[in-house]
Amino acid sequence: MASRDLPRALAGVGATAIGVALIRARESERDDRLYDDPYARAFADAAEREFLDPGAPEGSAETWATVARLVDVFYEGRTVGVRMSDDALRDAVASGCEQLVMLGAGLDTHAFRLGLPSAVHLFEVDLPEMFAFKERVLGGLGAVPSCRRSVVAADLRGDWRTALMDAGFREDVPARWTDAGVLAYLTREEARRVVRTIGELSAPGSLFGFGHSRLEAMADRIRTVPDAGRLMPGLADRSAERERGLGWDAPEWLERNGWRTEFRELAAIAASYGRALPHSSGAGSILATRL
Ligand SMILES: C[S@@+](CC[C@H](N)C(=O)[O-])C[C@H]1O[C@@H](n2cnc3c(N)ncnc32)[C@H](O)[C@@H]1O
Repeated sequence: MASRDLPRALAGVGATAIGVALIRARESERDDRLYDDPYARAFADAAEREFLDPGAPEGSAETWATVARLVDVFYEGRTVGVRMSDDALRDAVASGCEQLVMLGAGLDTHAFRLGLPSAVHLFEVDLPEMFAFKERVLGGLGAVPSCRRSVVAADLRGDWRTALMDAGFREDVPARWTDAGVLAYLTREEARRVVRTIGELSAPGSLFGFGHSRLEAMADRIRTVPDAGRLMPGLADRSAERERGLGWDAPEWLERNGWRTEFRELAAIAASYGRALPHSSGAGSILATRL
């Protein structure tokens, strides 16, 4: 993808990954940072240049301004989420897990920044247009992953399973799956289909972690940012609660489908990092273990 194509390619939900890169860049620059992502600033700067280029498609500067406003609204919760997900990957690897799968990997760079051992195989699943930008920026930086890294450019609404297997995923080896923030963008049926596939590919003891929040509360916050619904399709409306993602009854549904689940409240996790989350509304994180 040439640089002038970025604002068009990542005009919708893809722009949210740029927002999370901005969050990681902001967090990494704090004295009391929860993590350090040395690549986030490069993604943020490249995206800003391309969205604000005078030759960019009409509306690109407005999209950029919306991304910046969303970053302010979601910074606190999301930055805690990044640290939590980093810790979860480190814990899984420390317990001997050698397959990590990030669904909706966006612009995160776990394979480059967490010092994961070379025996670990990390799979990043996201849309082709995301990797067109990501690989261009990482290539420009000469970034080298510490573990084996496979890019799986696939749409989770389609046959992503074949792409993952072609990239070397092994069904007989336990894996640590992470919903890195994509399932809420899918319909309930699409999200459940993804998780059924995860179940089929999971050796006993595999883990699946995902954020668990009330989408109606999130919709109310999204609507505080004019035009944000365009970047977060389906999520700005309170109907998202019953139509999108895995739903509030996800733990019960998983338990009926071969998983054991544990819930941790986000506010408590944030407090353990010395951060307060006043808007977390009972949100948390679920860790499911394949039986
Ligand atoms: C909120 S962002 C994830 C941010 C990412 N975890 C990070 O930390 O940078 C949501 C991601 O889901 C991806 N996505 C949206 N719909 C998708 C689909 N149908 N299949 C695969 N990826 C999708 C987007 O491209 C985007 O990167």
